[in-house]
Amino acid sequence: MCGIVGFIGKRACTDVLIDALKRLEYRGYDSAGIAIFEDDKIKTVKAKGKIKEGLVEKLKSEPIFTAVCGIGHTRWATHGEPSDVNSHPIGNGRVSIVHNGIIENYREIKSFLIGKGYGFESETDTETVAKLLDYYYEGDPIEAIEKAVGVIQGAYALGIIFREHKNKIFAVRKDSPLIVGKGKGESFIASDITAIIEYTREYYCLERGEIATLDENGIHFTDLHGEAIEKELFTADWDVESAQKGGYEHFMLKEIHEQPDAVRNTISPRIKDGLPDFGECGLTAEKLRAYKHIFIVGCGSAMHSGMVGKYLIEDLARTPVIVDIASEFRYRNPLVSDGDLVVIVSQSGETADTLEALKLSKAKGADTLAVVNVVGSSIAREADMVIYTNAGPEISVCSTKAYAVQVAFMYLLAFEVAYARGRIDEARCKELVNGLTEVPEKIQECLNDLSIYQYVASKIFNADSLLYIGRGLDNALSMEGSLKLKEISYIHSESYAAGELKHGTISLIEDGTPVIAVMTQSSLFEKMLSNVRTVKSRGAKVVAICRAAENLDADCADYKVGLPEADDLFLPLISTVAMQLIAYYTAVQRGCDVDKPRNLAKSVTVE
Ligand code: M6R
Repeated sequence: MCGIVGFIGKRACTDVLIDALKRLEYRGYDSAGIAIFEDDKIKTVKAKGKIKEGLVEKLKSEPIFTAVCGIGHTRWATHGEPSDVNSHPIGNGRVSIVHNGIIENYREIKSFLIGKGYGFESETDTETVAKLLDYYYEGDPIEAIEKAVGVIQGAYALGIIFREHKNKIFAVRKDSPLIVGKGKGESFIASDITAIIEYTREYYCLERGEIATLDENGIHFTDLHGEAIEKELFTADWDVESAQKGGYEHFMLKEIHEQPDAVRNTISPRIKDGLPDFGECGLTAEKLRAYKHIFIVGCGSAMHSGMVGKYLIEDLARTPVIVDIASEFRYRNPLVSDGDLVVIVSQSGETADTLEALKLSKAKGADTLAVVNVVGSSIAREADMVIYTNAGPEISVCSTKAYAVQVAFMYLLAFEVAYARGRIDEARCKELVNGLTEVPEKIQECLNDLSIYQYVASKIFNADSLLYIGRGLDNALSMEGSLKLKEISYIHSESYAAGELKHGTISLIEDGTPVIAVMTQSSLFEKMLSNVRTVKSRGAKVVAICRAAENLDADCADYKVGLPEADDLFLPLISTVAMQLIAYYTAVQRGCDVDKPRNLAKSVTVE
């Protein structure tokens, strides 16, 4: 996830900027840079790689001694590979910016500006904002910013400097975080308080529609029309580690809360004119029409996202999908060949079994599509086509947001396969895409009140073993719910297709065995009710995860976790959040090390 810093004061700004950027390293990045005022110019130094080996080394050959004001950035690549030219700050000598977020309409802005004679050097969405600001700038920075933010769509936090306004920093944001720090005779901007906590604990939270101007006289806030506004000053009482967790007790909880933004960041760059668009990686409608078979391969949560993909693609596109565990796939001589598509899913992009499955697929002549989170990872480099999931770094070993965005991608892929193969028309495809864009808000609704998850956790945390049951999409999603619970709470858990219980597994039910029943599918609801009654009559303690509006009799569920109203198709994805939070609070109540569960590693690079 990108990191932004900015400084204006009386001391050398380079040291402060580098120090602040290093404090944002925990967010993950692949390049870093700074832009400072030197004499009457903006001087920019930026480099691919780690701050110490890249940027700091470069600065040794181009030292900056006198500057007191500048902006800096750590980039987590989304548009364009990690490289010097794609690194931030980005500008043209007159204006320079650092950006966190994704500009959804950058293609349109780029064509507009090319028509006005602008050239582009990088592959980034950010460059379009820098050039747009330059286009609108006629001497008044606030006016240029107001005009530019009226055009750009998407999420952004921006730190901006103009050559003609020496030693001034402007900042504006929408949906991506940015704070403004108030020190003694110096001021800062930063993506989060971690970056500047060594210098000040006092900060303002910049809100949408506000512009901060920082100069030698202090900090000034205006609305987009230049009207002054008063803002509340906060004081951070966190230590550095808590600050990195954004005030959450664990990275897992922070990452669960990042899911609305993460899902938006995954889907929005792949929607054009209301339809899915994977043109960025070369996955065209022609190709999707022609593939003979579709395979989805991964491990753990990544494989589980493939199970959801299978249900969706088979249902909407009437195309068979084979999902495989990478470690099995590579040793069972799979029936993959020329003319097939193999979708390789991996958060880290480094999982050894998944990488080998990819190599095997290529060797057998299939087209390979990597769906990965870490830019430039081995799987991303090896595959024929790459989709980056843009979730930002996931630090907790237990995958949450990375899984949610993989599933979100599966929805878009299913829509595109169905549309390409003529199973749905354009209007239906647009309707489905629109439904998906509403999912982040529904996820947010699930996050607004955490008490029910804590309550359910208090009822199950003493269990030795429990079951997740569901049907259809709920079955696919429950597999992940069960994995979450077992990996961090160490309670034995199995996920079972509800209708299959009676063929053996129901013998595990005894008095008090918790059963988490996921019941979001209207067409399967009555069937699920019978399954739930069956386990309840054998002593199970049932937690039902279903629509909040659903009325459940006492002979059915002991506890209900209500979900917001949404279409059947999307409700399972929303229910993931409830399952993650139940697992999280159960592990917390058992005193487990949530972010670093025993025996597990974040990236499994061995067989
Ligand atoms: O980095 P990957 O997505 O390839 O990792 C795959 C699995 O190791 C991973 O999903 C694992 O199951 C997680 N710990 C689940 O939370």
